[in-house]
Amino acid sequence: MSIEFTDKIRRIPVYPTAGGYSLGADFAMLASNEAPFGPMPSVIEAATAALAHVNRYPDPSNMGLRRALAGRYDFPPERIAIGSGSCDILLSAAEALLEPGAEVIYGWPSFSVYPQMAAATGARAIEVPLDDEDRYDLDAMLAEVTAATRLIVLCNPNNPTGTAQPLQAIEAFVERVPRDVCVILDEAYIEFSSLQDTESSLDLARRNPNVVLLRTFSKVYGLAGLRCGYALCGDERFRVAVEQVRQPFFCNTLAQVAAEEALRHQDEVRRRVDLVVAERVLMVQTLRDLGLTVAESQANFIWHALPEETDEEAVLDGLRERGVLVRSGRALGRAGWLRVTLGTAEENLRYLAGLRELL
Ligand SMILES: Cc1ncc(COP(=O)(O)O)c(C=O)c1O
Repeated sequence: MSIEFTDKIRRIPVYPTAGGYSLGADFAMLASNEAPFGPMPSVIEAATAALAHVNRYPDPSNMGLRRALAGRYDFPPERIAIGSGSCDILLSAAEALLEPGAEVIYGWPSFSVYPQMAAATGARAIEVPLDDEDRYDLDAMLAEVTAATRLIVLCNPNNPTGTAQPLQAIEAFVERVPRDVCVILDEAYIEFSSLQDTESSLDLARRNPNVVLLRTFSKVYGLAGLRCGYALCGDERFRVAVEQVRQPFFCNTLAQVAAEEALRHQDEVRRRVDLVVAERVLMVQTLRDLGLTVAESQANFIWHALPEETDEEAVLDGLRERGVLVRSGRALGRAGWLRVTLGTAEENLRYLAGLRELL
């Protein structure tokens, strides 16, 4: 006899986390779309000072951080939800919106947590293939909307392809979605996009109660290890619902304090984005010069094909031997492709040198 688990434990796919966290500092960790930059110095200071008070639970209302975000975006604080990473908000949204008989629509390949949203709740997942340019196919997604649709997730820029739809296309899409269907626009990488500035999609959530913009401190702010994300919600009831399904004190003190401080340094954010974009241009050009097909990235990572008949696993192993970790396309939904996060200039060169040798 052994203990018996729920059906959903059989359904939920194992999240394809990247390995390598115990490998040591010499490894180029280009597998998880993190920033190569550490936290900003004043963020380290603020978090260190807050450490002295962790005998207390964190502020359950996250009010300091919500007010800071409200000030930054000129957005009502009661419509800002905080999470222990934006994944936390995604999974809570699934719990709040989905159930057996309901449907959730998203593009594929896309972020590996979306299938989990359906599997955890018993809802039906409608995975819509990307278009010819590896972007979310918005018309094809609209064609999948039925009376059972409760949630649509748009990943823009998309992980793992890095591609993005222009804001006008997203706006036109939202116009055509029934008002009782929630649209989560997952903008984890929006700061890196050259197609729009960070503020321009906010109007979507101002004008449409069914729209939620999802963002994170894990990428450009360099706080992935602390876990903090947020949602700018068209309707306050979204925030209340995702708080209702979670444990109290869902975002820890250090994460709240660090995120609030990080927000004050938009000049540094712009500097980091410029560095990443310069590396992106260089990397894309070099990969294309090698004759590889490369998706049009608006993010801090690049999705590219390997030459036909290449043994993907052998390339991954060879890169690992050369001190570089990247993600296999097979694990992310398309065999024969790789996803490489932009690291420091030295790490990116190491990747390119390794790839050149292996191909
Ligand atoms: C598209 C997308 N959304 C959300 C997340 C989650 O980020 P976090 O939970 O660290 O905020 C990620 C992380 O890689 C992502 O790629």
